[in-house]
Amino acid sequence: MIDKEDISARIKDLRRLIDYHNYRYYALDQPEISDAEYDKIFRELVDLENRNPELITPDSPTQRVGFAPIEKFLPFRHEIPLLSLENAMNTQEALDFDRRVRKLLGTSQIIDYVAELKMDGLAVELVYENGALTGAGTRGDGFTGEDVSQNVKTIRAAPLRLFSHPGESALPVKLAVRGEVFIEKHDFEALNEERGKRSEPLFANPRNAAAGSLRQLDPSITAGRPLRAFFYGIGAFLAEKEFVTQMEMLNQLQNWGLPVNPRSLLCHGIEEAIDYYEKIAEEREYLPYEIDGVVIKINNLVWQRQLGDKSRSPRWAVALKFSPDEVQTHVQDIGVNVGRTGIITPVAFLNPVLVGGVIVKRATLHNIDEIKRKDIRKGDAVIVHRAGDVIPEVIEVIKSRRTEDRAPFQMPPWCPACGAQVVRLPDEAFYRCVNRNCPAQIKGSIEHFASRDAMDINGLGERIVSRFVDEGIIRNVSDLYKLRIEELENLPGFGKKSAQNLLDAIKGSKHTTLSRFLYSLGISHVGTFTADLLANFFGSIEKIRSAQSEELQQIQGIGEKVATAVATYFANPENNRLIDDLADLGVAIENPQPARPVQSGFWSGKTVVFTGALSSMTRQEAGEKAAAKGARVTDSVSKKTDVLVAGADPGAKLAKAQKLGVRIMDENEFIGMLGEHALPAEI
Ligand code: IVH
Repeated sequence: MIDKEDISARIKDLRRLIDYHNYRYYALDQPEISDAEYDKIFRELVDLENRNPELITPDSPTQRVGFAPIEKFLPFRHEIPLLSLENAMNTQEALDFDRRVRKLLGTSQIIDYVAELKMDGLAVELVYENGALTGAGTRGDGFTGEDVSQNVKTIRAAPLRLFSHPGESALPVKLAVRGEVFIEKHDFEALNEERGKRSEPLFANPRNAAAGSLRQLDPSITAGRPLRAFFYGIGAFLAEKEFVTQMEMLNQLQNWGLPVNPRSLLCHGIEEAIDYYEKIAEEREYLPYEIDGVVIKINNLVWQRQLGDKSRSPRWAVALKFSPDEVQTHVQDIGVNVGRTGIITPVAFLNPVLVGGVIVKRATLHNIDEIKRKDIRKGDAVIVHRAGDVIPEVIEVIKSRRTEDRAPFQMPPWCPACGAQVVRLPDEAFYRCVNRNCPAQIKGSIEHFASRDAMDINGLGERIVSRFVDEGIIRNVSDLYKLRIEELENLPGFGKKSAQNLLDAIKGSKHTTLSRFLYSLGISHVGTFTADLLANFFGSIEKIRSAQSEELQQIQGIGEKVATAVATYFANPENNRLIDDLADLGVAIENPQPARPVQSGFWSGKTVVFTGALSSMTRQEAGEKAAAKGARVTDSVSKKTDVLVAGADPGAKLAKAQKLGVRIMDENEFIGMLGEHALPAEI
């Protein structure tokens, strides 16, 4: 029989091991063992404790989930109030903050700040007595919150015991540590997906999910939720040694096993903190969790104490906020927009709001099914979302704020631009205007023709195209090459110089590549990528014009839908006439060299993204070169990206590629790899 003492020793070892690996995983973010290995030692402990229940202690890692539901939350008093933060809505207000504190401190020195991410979760305080977690509460009104001790004990990121390192000073007699409980974005999505499957109401965002999960009367529900925590401050503190700086405190918290956000940065002077804020603003969407700003704190704790608090917030810190990417507003009206292919897209006209850094007045509603699904009506209070370059979107209607019952939106039976009939083909989600001469379609196709990745005619934007079409100056893209200075210079808003600039830009577009030319025609489903494929495979517009659908489908990356669209386009005599007219007017297409299908070599089949400025060529040219070697050039970095070519000032794509482990090349390496003389490198 195994000795009881051996079992007891093994249990202690296992507990220590589990605590250590929790520390590696949650506090240091450097796990040493796999999840499976962790589960194995955890199961061994559960098993031993089950067979020897008299050896179970309350601080055993198995005891995180052992609590019965409670009736209601008890109050939790914060010995030192848990304050809020003052906001700075822009960088000027952060500069004002710096000026204010220097004045109050009576110093002209440059101040060291710690810039921390402002986690978008919910604030908690955990109390440790002689190293053991004895209680936890939410913020509440800052003085008294709710006692969520049982629930916090189910969070694996919250150590039940602080970690003591041999040779270091003893654990504090008392430590009230403050931090934020949150849910990572991917966990939030998985959680909502699960809830959707079980027909449970969805959480609106990760913060609500975290708050809802922590404020559960039944701790076993909390235990099943993927809660995490980062700690960033202290309240009551009784220990041998006081901290001197914020940075020292953060390091010590982490040493004790409390997860601390590794993205905190010591900044010399407010400008460095603002730079950091701007960098984080770019990387924000790639962070695994949601943040709503950067908290700037004075590093020197003596100065912090000297400055003290106002009634609700400390004087030594400021939250420099991002403009939110989800905002509430009202739908003034719902209208429709006619695109260049005749697709009629419903749009919401909104009370203008600042979302994701820009003023948003309109949001696409995609199609009629989407409007029905979200039940969006004129007058509704809605939540609008926009992130980065993403087109603003209405994500939900706040139904409780719908005061009067308004009729649901209906698609107009006629095109608002030309009055022609609107149809919905049986297999399409969209309604279309059937009139090929619809002015909205003409304007859209001319704008597309002139756009940057197409013929790249500088100065020919939406407003001017619209005017030219309305005034009958142009009727299609070939008319652009017939424009004369006399027609333009007397138009209101045009002078001799601006008219000449526009004509020069139009003339400059006459020399173009086959790929750009194909893209500019606006054939359905032919984006820049497909245009590259077609250009490289066929090598001339004549060959593409005469290709049958079957031949088109031989190209890797072109399926039946695209092939049919291309063949149909070139089967239409009107389109062929346009291409001939353009050639007669001097549009000269440079064919890719050599005109051959590229199917082997390093770049063949690789997905490539370009970011930042290249010094020897434009990104467009670099993309064309890579595509000519068989690469697929895309705009955004994802798991499918094989190579990111990074020029100067690469921006957020680089951060994302690094995170995903995508191979990164600089310009020189890229040029070297285009040569293909060297041995192909392995990815
Ligand atoms: S310090 C006395 N640091 O923001 C100062 N707060 O708007 C206490 N928050 O209630 C706050 N990340 O929930 C601080 N790195 C961070 C933070 C942070 C998120 C939250 C916290 C606080 C709220 C104030």
